[in-house]
Amino acid sequence: MNGQIKNICCIGAGYVGGPTMSVLAAHCPDIQVNVVDINHERIKNWNDPNLQNLPIYEPGLGSIVGRCRGKNLHFSTDLQRHISLADMIFISVNTPTKTKGIGAGQASDLKWVESSARQVASYAQGHTIVVEKSTLPVRTAEVIKEILNTSQPALTMQSEVPTFDILSNPEFLSEGSAVKDLEDPDRVLIGGENNNAIKALSEIYRNWVDEDKILHTNIWSSELAKLTANAFLAQRISSINSISALCEATGADVREVARAIGSDSRIGSRFLDSGPGFGGSCFKKDILNLVYLSRFFGLPEVADFWEGVVHLNTWHQKRVSHLIVKKLFGTLAGKKIAVLGFAFKANTNDTRESAAIQICKDLQNEGAILFIHDPRVSAKQIAIDLGSEPIDKVSGAFKQLTLYKDGDWSSVDQISDAAKDADAILLLTEWEEYSQLNWVKIAKQMRKPAWVFDSRSIINHKKVIEAGLNFWRVGDGSNWEV
Ligand code: UDX
Ligand code: UDX
Repeated sequence: MNGQIKNICCIGAGYVGGPTMSVLAAHCPDIQVNVVDINHERIKNWNDPNLQNLPIYEPGLGSIVGRCRGKNLHFSTDLQRHISLADMIFISVNTPTKTKGIGAGQASDLKWVESSARQVASYAQGHTIVVEKSTLPVRTAEVIKEILNTSQPALTMQSEVPTFDILSNPEFLSEGSAVKDLEDPDRVLIGGENNNAIKALSEIYRNWVDEDKILHTNIWSSELAKLTANAFLAQRISSINSISALCEATGADVREVARAIGSDSRIGSRFLDSGPGFGGSCFKKDILNLVYLSRFFGLPEVADFWEGVVHLNTWHQKRVSHLIVKKLFGTLAGKKIAVLGFAFKANTNDTRESAAIQICKDLQNEGAILFIHDPRVSAKQIAIDLGSEPIDKVSGAFKQLTLYKDGDWSSVDQISDAAKDADAILLLTEWEEYSQLNWVKIAKQMRKPAWVFDSRSIINHKKVIEAGLNFWRVGDGSNWEV
């Protein structure tokens, strides 16, 4: 039983909208779900008969889309039509940090949310429940409400003036495990004022989520809870990364420290893996949003506290690149570094805010030539992120590379091509395949003395050392120089 909801429209077919609507469609065969997007290329890819070509990679997503697409799950660019048909509309467009004007560098740019609300106001018919899915600054619902209630409908033939309810239903899915997180969420949060609207959305989730996991709050608490959850998670990573630096300085091991503190049930063991610094589209953006809001509401101490989490993250990324320069005799000019992983974490092709971007740029600035491998990230995407085109694919000896100017990069399909004649291997993303490399074989290909830098602690250090390579891993105070 799904109340009155028979037709859902989701504006934004991105990392959140696509998987969320696919899982919803799979559990609610009686509801028609239309995901719309202004990006024609993206919609074309969502409709590609070859499920390998979906625009985002998420384990398990392909089979769900394969089962539901064309039945009750549809991807389209026809916003007007699907808005007008919908009883419930999810707004799932991107909300990047503003790059100019008031709040630049911190506040969220709400231009896409605003334009989505205007489109809803223009085309919606009858009564429509509008659900904020995008992560938004607190009190954005008020802006949406004002736009919806004051705009003139474009469909003048309508006999009745459209009416709206607004709900906040933030997404807590994590990329790489999005399908699992959606199938079995820790909780579903619904913020709103109107009980009927809350009930309608709750009933949809009740098709696969236990009632006691569906939390109801007021709309502002819901918006703030989303920002706070991401801020707390990011804060844990900055905390453990700060301790990793102290471990390296003192001879302690951050893995042992994490295990010791994580077994305290008040702290818990998750999100204590020291890495190259957190990335992803949400953490930095949401904390900066919190910082902006705190300053706006006259709470500078609160703002400074959270801003520290982002500062530590930036410092930590720099720490990794500085350390590499130091270990490679203070200069990277003309040196070849194999970079394993470019995505901001494993099991995703997403590179937004990936620590790899800043670290690679720093290494390029020092004159290194980078050979970047990632099983899911395209060379095109790396070029966008690094702001420079790759050199041609190179095969053969390192000597040939000196033909290219310093600071260039190439993407490689084979790890062996990346390692050939390399002075160092730098692991940045924890892809499973990187934990099973044949170090004896790789060591033979590298230029000596050679280094392995493991920023994710997934490499078997004993095998690297036995192969005669120098080894560093994040947060480990042991000295493994041969
Ligand atoms: C999500 C959330 O919605 C955002 O608030 C959060 O902070 C990050 O994650 P995400 O799905 O990851 O966004 O963004 P993205 O993959 O960029 O997808 C957004 C989509 O919305 C894009 O495909 C874009 O083309 C589309 N869009 C944007 C519209 O269809 N209409 C618009 O007006 C603007
Ligand atoms: C995050 C939140 O987890 C999710 O609830 C929210 O909806 C969106 O933002 P996501 O960005 O997909 O999800 O990834 P997440 O798994 O949280 O990782 C974020 C970053 O932290 C990654 O760069 C990851 O490598 C890093 N990380 C995570 C660590 O460095 N150590 C850890 O222990 C965990």
